[in-house]
This record gives sequence, structure tokens and C-alpha cells, in this order.
Amino acid sequence: MNKNVKPLRIAGVGYCVPDTVITNDDLTKLYDTSDEWIFTRTGIKERRIVSGNENAVDLGLKAAQNALGKSNIKVEDIDCVIAASSAPPQLYPSLACQIQAGLDIPNHIPAFDMTAACSGLIYALQVARGFIGSGLYKNILLVAADNNSRLVDWEDRGTSILFGDGAGAMVVTEAEDGIDDILSLDIKSDGKIGQYIYMNLPGKNCPLVEPCDEVDAKIHMAGRDVYKFVVTTLPDFIDECVKNSGLTAEEIDYLIPHQANQRIIEAMQSRLKYSDEKVISNIKYYGNTSAASIPIALVEGVQKGKIKLGSTALLCGFGAGMTWGGAVLRLREGIC
Ligand code: ACO
Repeated sequence: MNKNVKPLRIAGVGYCVPDTVITNDDLTKLYDTSDEWIFTRTGIKERRIVSGNENAVDLGLKAAQNALGKSNIKVEDIDCVIAASSAPPQLYPSLACQIQAGLDIPNHIPAFDMTAACSGLIYALQVARGFIGSGLYKNILLVAADNNSRLVDWEDRGTSILFGDGAGAMVVTEAEDGIDDILSLDIKSDGKIGQYIYMNLPGKNCPLVEPCDEVDAKIHMAGRDVYKFVVTTLPDFIDECVKNSGLTAEEIDYLIPHQANQRIIEAMQSRLKYSDEKVISNIKYYGNTSAASIPIALVEGVQKGKIKLGSTALLCGFGAGMTWGGAVLRLREGIC
């Protein structure tokens, strides 16, 4: 590594999911489907969704408090907040600004959102790595929070079965011991296939000009195209991530993939030739929580004893854009 680039330490990771559980059987009240159909094609049995006025800011705030608690970094020492969100309750003020206010961060630090859909946390980590590496900021709070349950079309059985709500957060800082927790990290996109997953913001032209087409504000997804794209692109990409880390796939302890579809997770597992113990999957209970799914899987994996810290993990995600990203990380003791 270039000696002038400061190394990054992951100091704390946290998550939060809403209490309300919606099972596959519950969904049969909305449309013609079955637990068997959903589980066989996706690996999902149930998902958590927000209820009442609860939203991504509430979830993100709790995840951030958990991550900060683990990090031993004080709120007043945070230099920057980056939120990765594709389903915030408001476009502005940004989710990051609302987290800054909710945490009562006293300083006028920068806080902003970035959209890379389900790849959001890995994208945010790359941005934070640049900020810390250059010495611009030292302690950065990353929050990945979405409540897609408000944006899916609950009449579209091909899409609404997949999503759940949740938030994850990560506190990253300059590694003063000189040991970088990022062994490799890469992010990619292909805007030419943006139509695979999209969500419009509705609006009307000024009444003095010709009207524009009316659009809805719901998630549209060509599930089969997404599936094909991911299983053909991600396996080679994760090979690259592994190669760039300087480790072999065997030497990496865990795969913590974006939880989008159990069959996609299995495609990555088979490329890496990993046993079930090395692959973290909790999609059965949470569905696809978008950018939050990787940190939720990480922290929950540690809490359930599936992940032992003092290890390494390959993280890999993809989402609307299309975007994708992967990282090989060192998971130090005590981070969650
Ligand atoms: N229950 C019963 N039948 C259903 C359901 C359902 N919930 N949904 C669709 N069907 C039917 C369809 O109507 C269709 O019937 P037909 O053949 O009579 O027309 C049939 O099942 C097959 O439909 P497909 O959409 O082709 O089903 P597929 O096998 O592709 O599974 C799924 C759909 C599960 C969505 C799959 O394509 C998938 O998981 N794709 C990946 C999606 C993904 O990973 N998205 C990530 C999003 S990340 C982000 O950034 C938002």
C-alpha cells in the first residue's frame, strides 16, 4: 500500500430491524401465492417491515447507536456521516442529516446520502476509505437504512415477496496501529441495464408547458433479468476480489453476501467451494433488506455464534443501477 494512504479500521458495526413479522402465509391474504412457491425460489420464509410511522431514520438511528457503542468513538468525534439509502422517507433532508440530528452530533460535520441500492454499504465504505486514506476525515459513520416495504407494489407478487426493512451501521476510523482492515475493495456499475430495477419519483411539468408522462413511485423489477445478470457477473467478480486481497478463497473465513435470493447466495458459495459453515445466510427471516442486509448478516452472525471475530470475510453485494461491489475485510475482536 502507498505509505501516504492512511489505513482504515472498522471500529463498530450495529443493526436494527423492525418488530413486525410478515410470513409467506400472511402474503397469501394479498395475492395468489404460497409459502412453498416463495421459499423454493428465494429461500425467504418471513420478513420484518415497518408499521405506523416507523421509518428508515428510526431504524438507522438505532443501528448507528449500536455501532457507536461498540466502537468506543464518541458522537462528538464523528467527522462525517454517509448514509446509503434507496428508500429514505424523504429525499431531503437526507437520511444522513436526520441521523446527525437524531444522534445530536454537536459539530457541523458533512452528512450526505448516496444511492447505490443494495450495494450501498460497500459503496459507502469505498468513499469512507478515500476520505480516511487521504487524511480528510478520521472517524466516519456509515448508515445503510431502507424501508422498501413502503415502496414496493403490494399487488406485484413477483417483487413484494422479496423485500424486508432494516438498517445496518458501521463506524470506521484511521487505523493507528497501521493495520488496514480492508484487504481488497472494489465497486462497479453498468447503467445501461438500469431498467432491470427502477423506481420513479412522480411529478408534473409546469402547467404552462406540454405535460410529461405520468409515472408511479413503486419499485419495478425484472426479476429474471436481475437473476441472470447476477449469476453470470458476480462469480468472476468475487474471484477478482479474492485475488486482490492477497489471500486465497480457502484462507478467507466467511462469505457474507447481500441477502437477495438464497439461490444467488448458493451460486457464489459454489464458485468459492465453501462449506455451509463459511456462508452467512439469514434471508429466511429477513428477506432482502437492501443495503442493510450485509451488516445485519454480519452482526447477527456474530451474535448467533456463526461468525467468530478475529477472522476475515468476503462481502459481496449488488443492486439497482445495476451496481455491485465486493470487499475482503478483517473483522477484529469486539466490533459487534
Ligand atoms: N407466487 C406464485 N407465483 C408467482 C409469484 C408468487 N409470489 N411471483 C411470480 N409468480 C409466477 C409468475 O406469474 C409466472 O407465472 P407464468 O409463468 O404463468 O407467467 C411464474 O411464477 C414465473 O415468474 P418469474 O418472475 O419468471 O419467476 P422466477 O422464477 O424468475 O422467480 C424471483 C421470481 C424470485 C423474483 C426471481 O426472479 C429472483 O429472485 N430474481 C432476483 C431478484 C433480485 O435478486 N433482486 C434484487 C434486488 S436488489 C435491489 O437493488 C433492489
